[in-house]
Amino acid sequence: MTSAEDPETNSPYEQLNAELLNNRSLIIVANRGPVTFEGSASDSIDMKRGAGGLVTALVGLAQHVEATWIACARTEADTAWDNGAIPLLQGAGNLHVRFLSPDPTAYERYYNVIANPLLWFLQHALWDVARAPIINQHTWQAWETGYQVVNRLFSEAIVEEVHKAAHPALVMLQDYHLYLAARHIRDQLQPRHPLTLLHFMHIPWPGPSYWRILPGTMRQAILDSLCATDLLGFQTREDGLNFLRNCESYLPNAHVNYKRGRIWYRNRATHVRDFPISIDLNLLRQLAATEEVARYQTELQGVMGQRQIILRIDRIEPSKNIIRGFQAFEELLERHPEHRGTAKFLALLVPSRLDVEEYQSYLNELMAVAGSVNARYGDSGWEPIRILVGENYSRAVAALQLYDVLLVNAIADGMNLVAKEGPIVNQRDGVLILSERTGARQQLEPGAIVIAPCDVYATAEAMHQALTMPAAKRADLAVRLRWLIEREDITAWIYQQLKALKDLNL
Ligand code: G6P
Repeated sequence: MTSAEDPETNSPYEQLNAELLNNRSLIIVANRGPVTFEGSASDSIDMKRGAGGLVTALVGLAQHVEATWIACARTEADTAWDNGAIPLLQGAGNLHVRFLSPDPTAYERYYNVIANPLLWFLQHALWDVARAPIINQHTWQAWETGYQVVNRLFSEAIVEEVHKAAHPALVMLQDYHLYLAARHIRDQLQPRHPLTLLHFMHIPWPGPSYWRILPGTMRQAILDSLCATDLLGFQTREDGLNFLRNCESYLPNAHVNYKRGRIWYRNRATHVRDFPISIDLNLLRQLAATEEVARYQTELQGVMGQRQIILRIDRIEPSKNIIRGFQAFEELLERHPEHRGTAKFLALLVPSRLDVEEYQSYLNELMAVAGSVNARYGDSGWEPIRILVGENYSRAVAALQLYDVLLVNAIADGMNLVAKEGPIVNQRDGVLILSERTGARQQLEPGAIVIAPCDVYATAEAMHQALTMPAAKRADLAVRLRWLIEREDITAWIYQQLKALKDLNL
């Protein structure tokens, strides 16, 4: 029996996680739910798995324990569903989901003004600081009547679930949408109420000089709330250290102990650790073995022909550096014309945050760049860049099976799970080109070609190197990558967090 058929024997951490979660009620809180409902009560309602690394990562957890996931409703059907138990994909068990439905204006301000253009851009260093950000009355209004309001709504729902819970609750808050929740939760509960609060940051945490771009009031509210948690998880050690440095610089009366990774603030301790996130190997392998993925593979082979495939799979997202990826491909065709007609760049792009102006203009720009490369180098028999837009995870997995080169050149990325998914399902000993500014670089460097994301010249050379690499070298790198990824899958990520709580007596 292969490991794909027998998920039980795959990870030594599964049993340990179940033990560590024993006698806890688990509450996962994220802006995005694990599923979205579509349709109306009168027709059939469809349940769709959500996009993004966060969902990929946390769905695995519900296999081990009864859990509640609190998130914002994204569709009318989500709002109508309100809350209830849902079966997860691939026999992964049941999860209780509770959707919150904030006032639409508050949500718009929280998501489209503060969380994505402001905090995301800050933490991924996406601004051209001579011009952006412009923090004006509109931003302040969004902070007060959007971000603060939605965070309060989350915290009220969390407190209700904590009161309902059969066991002492472990609340796992996720990401940059919810920075203000922890302080509100503490304010609503008795100091001795049994509760453990953990907040995991999926995105990079820059140092104090970058955070200085944000007004002090916002910065301090964020740090004050995060220091109301028991444990803060970051993707890399550097992110955690940057957080400590921010507290030292900007949080009055915080005592930072770098050696212990601890902040003492308002009579309580907050611990800082790094837990590099990974993927659910079992679910991925099971999906990769389905008929549906096989059908997509045939379809993609038809589109790509016998050519070598350079692949990228990303949300349409400025931090992913999609345009420089196309520019690097153009340089490759210019400097190494032997790849003309024999290599093809396949970009699977998932629409994302298109109500935010920067995302819409990024999409238009990247389409124009790809169009001009195609016009300049393509001919009737060969289209250099093929872009497929849409959210289709099975098709993405099929493409991952086929790449010769996987390009992950993000400007900044907390981890980047595509860099971990690709080598697991790829069937061609494909080469990974990896940005040094991804969290994944910390673990995967020995098996990848590492590049500086702004260096289009070096990225083009890396493409050439990957496309011409001898088979034995490719195989060697592929084995290394698989080994590095397999030894720490998603169950290890969860284990590291639960073990840290245990070691800290939390
Ligand atoms: C990243 C973030 C997640 C987010 C995901 C998708 O992975 O860390 O918090 O859910 O992107 O973004 P979206 O805005 O569509 O939820």
